[in-house]
Formats: sequence, structure tokens, C-alpha cells
Amino acid sequence: MNEDLKKVLISEEEIEEIVSCLAEKINHDYEGKSIILVGLLKGSVVFMSDLMRKINIPCKIDFIAASSYGSSTVSSGVVRIEKDLSVDIENENVIVVEDIVDSGNTLSCVMELLKAKNPKELRLCSFLSKPSRRVKNIRIDYLGREIPDEFVVGYGLDFDEKYRSLPYLGILRNEVFL
Ligand code: IMP
Ligand code: MG
Repeated sequence: MNEDLKKVLISEEEIEEIVSCLAEKINHDYEGKSIILVGLLKGSVVFMSDLMRKINIPCKIDFIAASSYGSSTVSSGVVRIEKDLSVDIENENVIVVEDIVDSGNTLSCVMELLKAKNPKELRLCSFLSKPSRRVKNIRIDYLGREIPDEFVVGYGLDFDEKYRSLPYLGILRNEVFL
């Protein structure tokens, strides 16, 4: 385990099971159809790359980069789009892929923006959710795991751009924040 972590919350083996389960549901729900996965940079890239390789229906991918004003550990309600889509999603089945829904501020803004592009269907798949921190009401169609109100890193999630490459999800030691 990385020495900046208090504990490993979700191991590599558990992650593999969670992602397989989500992909199975998506494969079942969209049988005979095609989808576009839209990942939110940068946190979703590891989850997205695992998820897409378990999807067995026709699938395109794209990415959006949205930045939220505020400190590095708490998001504000104001979101700026830094990179928009490059594929056309009009009349397509779109699944947004996110690392974690915390307050919900980022997602509520991004989902509105995507809705305005008239997809046939718009769903959300998030690896993690911290329900106790929710400010905006967000429907998560495919959820990996609910977690308590702790700051987690690894499997794509960062603190100050660090720890994204850890293959498991861990809780950061409080001293590292200070
Ligand atoms: P929200 O807008 O408050 O829902 O924040 C969502 C974004 O905040 C996520 O996409 C992450 O980038 C970041 N975030 C929220 N909680 C954590 C955490 O525990 N660890 C790392 N990043 C987090
Ligand atoms: Mg993120």
C-alpha cells in the first residue's frame, strides 16, 4: 500500500468485480443497440478503459473536460467546460462515465449541457458515490459502490494530481491534506 494512505478501501480484485458487474448490466440493457461512452477527464480514464473493454456491444468513446472552481477537495457550483465533445451525440444512446459523484455539482451541469445536444437517451455510470455529500439531485443509472464521506484516491482519482495511477482505491491520510 502507498505510504500516504490510511487504508485500502477497494482492492484491485474488488474493482474488477464491480466493473464486470456494471458492464454486464450495460451489455444487457443495450443488447442489439449501440452506445457512446462519454468520460469526464481526468478522473474517469482508468475506470473508462476497464469498462469499455468489457462492453460487447458497438461502442464509441469521447471525453469532456470540465473544471469546477473551488479548492482541490471541495467543488463549487460553477463549472467551466475546457474540452467539449468531438463526436456528434444527437439521436445516440449516451452513457456518461464518471469516477465519483460527490456534491453532484459537476454532473448536474455536464448532464444539462449534454441534454441540449439531443441524444436519444442519456444515462450516467459512476464508479463511486458519496451520497452524504450530495447537494444536487443526480440519478446514477449504473453505480459501482457507495462510499462514506472520506477523501479517496487511486484508480484515476487524485489529490493535487497525484495518486491517479494507483491500481486500487485508498483513503488518504489526514496529514497529507495539511
Ligand atoms: P462534485 O461536483 O462535488 O460531485 O465533484 C465531483 C468531482 O470532484 C469528481 O469528479 C472528482 O474529480 C472530485 N472528487 C470528489 N470527491 C473526491 C474524492 O474523494 N477523491 C478525489 N476526487 C474527488
Ligand atoms: Mg472528476
